[in-house]
Order: sequence, then structure tokens, then C-alpha cells
Amino acid sequence: MPDCTYYTTAIDYTNAAPHIGHAYEKVLTDVLARFEKLKGEPVYFLTGVDQHGQKVQQSAEKEGVPPQEFADRCTEKFLALWKTLGVDYDGWAATTHPVHKNVVQKILQKLHDEGQLYKQAHRGFYSVRQEQFLTDKERNESGEFGPEWGQVVELQEENWYFRLAQHREWLLHYIDTHDSFIVPTFRRAELRNAVEKISGDLCISRPKSRLSWGIELPFDTEYVTYVWFDALINYISFAGYLAEPGSGLPEFSKLWPARAQVIGKDILIPAHGIYWSIMLHALGFPDDQIPTLLVHGWWNIAGAKMSKSLGNTVDPVLLAERYGSGALRYYLMADISTGKDSDFSEERLRMRFNDELANNVGNLLNRTLNMSQRYRSGILRNPPLADAGLQTLSSQEAPAAVSAYTEAMTEYRIDASLHAVVQFARACNQLIEASAPWKLAKDPTETDRLDAVLYHLAESLRIIGILLAPVLPEASHSIFEQLQWPHPARLRDVVWGQLPEGHVLGIPTPVFPRLEAPATPQTE
Ligand code: MSP
Repeated sequence: MPDCTYYTTAIDYTNAAPHIGHAYEKVLTDVLARFEKLKGEPVYFLTGVDQHGQKVQQSAEKEGVPPQEFADRCTEKFLALWKTLGVDYDGWAATTHPVHKNVVQKILQKLHDEGQLYKQAHRGFYSVRQEQFLTDKERNESGEFGPEWGQVVELQEENWYFRLAQHREWLLHYIDTHDSFIVPTFRRAELRNAVEKISGDLCISRPKSRLSWGIELPFDTEYVTYVWFDALINYISFAGYLAEPGSGLPEFSKLWPARAQVIGKDILIPAHGIYWSIMLHALGFPDDQIPTLLVHGWWNIAGAKMSKSLGNTVDPVLLAERYGSGALRYYLMADISTGKDSDFSEERLRMRFNDELANNVGNLLNRTLNMSQRYRSGILRNPPLADAGLQTLSSQEAPAAVSAYTEAMTEYRIDASLHAVVQFARACNQLIEASAPWKLAKDPTETDRLDAVLYHLAESLRIIGILLAPVLPEASHSIFEQLQWPHPARLRDVVWGQLPEGHVLGIPTPVFPRLEAPATPQTE
């Protein structure tokens, strides 16, 4: 087992601006990485951009700029977004980086030398407009290639192929014997069916006459490699695989295999589930070095796919400006269950934030600190008291929330982990209603009870602040500041009773101010 938990995400195409689908995946992985940090475990989080390929070359040509300039400009948008959203990655995988190119070429050469690649002529129908070979799947009902393909010519082209089909039996067996290969498991059958249908090999080259924006084949310089072959390798090239000494990259054996490679459902078949696992196997990675694929679902708009051509993409930059990055992170984590699809709704973003954070956690913090200041000048006391309600909170509800949270996080069910925190905060608010500290404050015989209630609320908030840290690091920090809890967020501190007798709480400032509907919402 590696020393350090390694998480990767898909690397985003740099031919378009980021939308909330991209943001979701990066925040999800950021939360997983931050949860490791919360546990005090070493973690390495890699994300980046997929900068090669035909789309980038075409978009750059349209704008009359060199492809690198075009890709760099798009990359800036991703970098700025991750900064805004607090996506705290450790490694940045940009596929035009020389380190990556070098590893891709070494891998190509190795596979070539070992007879895993071969050159063959292919004769077929080629769309000049789309610059791709067409198969029978592209024919319409009348058996023709429709007008969307423009001029279609019969063409013969030589290319390099990777012996994918040779590894079909291995992959079937691997899938059948490794339950944790695909998470969630309901996607496994889909992948298995696709593997059973593998008939041919994978074309891994493009002649430079058609596409020059890629990594050159080291053994045949008239070609560049297929963009997926290049892009998939980022997961190992930026983790130090075959790194030159002094490269500054991590030590590969400390990271690999990745604990989870986080990808969307659209790129499981064939790219990750088939190409990537077979590439690793062909390179000599043993079965226990094949990483888990954590496959998430999609954010849709009113049940429909979000796409640039439909003009229904949702801009995360605008949402973060409008509601704050914390609100967007929270919504993206709370309103989807990992693996499934969800509908994006700005109204639900506001509703969930207001109900679960502003009116619940925020209110709890505000009331607790206000009452402590008003009745006790912020000074906590923890008198022993036989109070069933308080004992239930400290010895049952708090530990139950922590274990439900931890279990859900470990199973990548971030929505369920947040639900556990929100329910715990609701129980604390109920305790305020039930114990009515404002009445206790007027009754001199209830001095101890009032102190005990305030202590229980402050302790609960400290635990809530810890549990919220992976999803809401800034809010968590602010809760700690107000509680004057001097430590960084650490899971080991969720044990009840850490605030000492005489601890002084701070002054409340709103952490989750209510969100209001804007004049012009993006989606509703
Ligand atoms: N460049 C390839 C990935 C190469 S990985 C070696 C790619 N890029 S992408 O920009 O199209 O998508 C990046 C990630 O965003 C993918 O995991 C994809 O599933 C995810 N999403 C794209 N649209 C999405 C939604 N609407 N919702 C959730 N995630 C989505 O594919």
C-alpha cells in the first residue's frame, strides 16, 4: 500500500470555459482530499487540463492564434475558478508540460518495443468537415451519411494501433474478481458488457497532415498520438512515473495506486474502464496496482443534458460571485448523491443554504454566542448535572452524528455526511427551544443548568465546525475563530468535552448570511 492517499480527477478539456459539471468533480475530489487531511493522513490531489487534440487545434485556428496560446488562455479560466472555489490541489497536470510529453513518449516507445503497437492501413469513409473516419453507426435511417458530416470521401490511411483486444479476457476476469474496481458498483455490469463487445484494437495515432496538435510518436514522426492516449497518462506522469532525477515530482511508489480516480459517467466507457485499465496492464502494472474508478453522475438542467450547443450551461464563476464559493460548494455536495445524476437549480441552492446553514447552523452559532455573552460574558462552565436531554446530546447524538458522518465520507457519500451534520445542528436548536435558556437566566436556582446548556451548545458547535471543514473550510475556520478554539480542524478533536472549564467564547458574526433571489437568476 502506498504511504500517501492519492486522488485524481479527470483533466478538463481546454477548448471551452468551465461549467458547474467541471466544478462539481473538482470540489468533490477536494472534499475527499480535505477529509484525509482532517484525519491527519498524508494526501496528494492531482487535477489539471487536457490541452491537446483536434478541438483545441480547430478553436485556435478559428481565432488565428497558436494552439498553445489558445490552450493557455482557457487554462487560466480553470486555474482562476479552482482558486475561487478553494480547490486545493497538490499537483497540476497540464498535458503540454515537457515532463508529461516525455513520459508519454517513453510509454509509446516501450509498448512499441514490446510489440504492443502495430501499423496498419485502414480504408474507410472520412468526413472532411469533422475530420474523422465514420462507421456504420454514423449512417442515418436511409443508410446515408447525413449532411451534418459535410463532404464524405473514401480514404485510405495508415495508423498505429494498440493491441487492446489481446487484453480483453484479462479485463473481464479483473472486473469479475475486483469488487472495488468501479464505485458505485451498479456501473460494473455496464462496463462488463462493453468489454465483452471489444472486437478491434485501438487506433492511437493521427497523421500530422490531419492533426498536428499532439505528442509526436517517437518511432514515427509523421504522427502524433491520440488525445485520450496522451491524456490518460497524466495520472502517472505527474505522479512521478518514469520521472527523470531532480524532476521535483512526487515519488511514484508513495502514491500509486491512486485511492480513487474521480471521473464522470460519460468517460468510464471506453476511456477509463477499458483503455486506461488495459494500458496499465500492458505496461506491466500488476492487478493490485490498478486503481479504483469513482464514477460520478451528471448535473443536468431540468432533466436535460447541459451543453454549450444547447446554451444551458451554468457558469460557476457567476454563481460564486452571487452567492459565495462556500454556498456553491455546499450545494454541489449536498444536492446530489455520488454516482447519480441531479438537476441543478439556483432556487434549490438558496433554499438548502438558507434552511440547512443560515437558519440552522448559523442560527445555532449566533444564538449560542449571543446568550453566552449576554448571560455569562462568554465564559463557559461545565457543571456536572443529571439532565437527560443534555446527556443524550453529548453521549448519543454527537457520537452518532460523527460516526454517520465518517462512515458516509469513507463511502464517498458526501450528501449523507452533510445530512448527519445538519441533523445534529437541528437537535441542538431543539435543545435551545426545549431548555429555554432565556427563562433559566431569570431563575437563580437554574444557574448550573444554564451553564450546562451553554456548554453543550458550544461543544456541539465545535464538533460541527470540525465536520464541516472539508466542504466549508472557510466557514469552519470562522466558527473556530468565534468559539476561540485555537486548533486547526482535526477529526481526532471530535471527542466530547475538549473546551475547558473557564474557556471564553468570542463575539458572533454571521457565518451564513441568508441568500436572497437575484433579479436575473441563471436557471429557475
Ligand atoms: N478531457 C477529458 C477527460 C480526460 S481524463 C484523462 C474530458 N474533459 S471534459 O472537460 O469534457 O470533462 C471533464 C470532467 O467533467 C469529466 O469527468 C466529465 O464527466 C465531467 N463533466 C462534464 N460535464 C458534467 C456534468 N454536466 N456534470 C458532472 N460532471 C460533468 O472528458
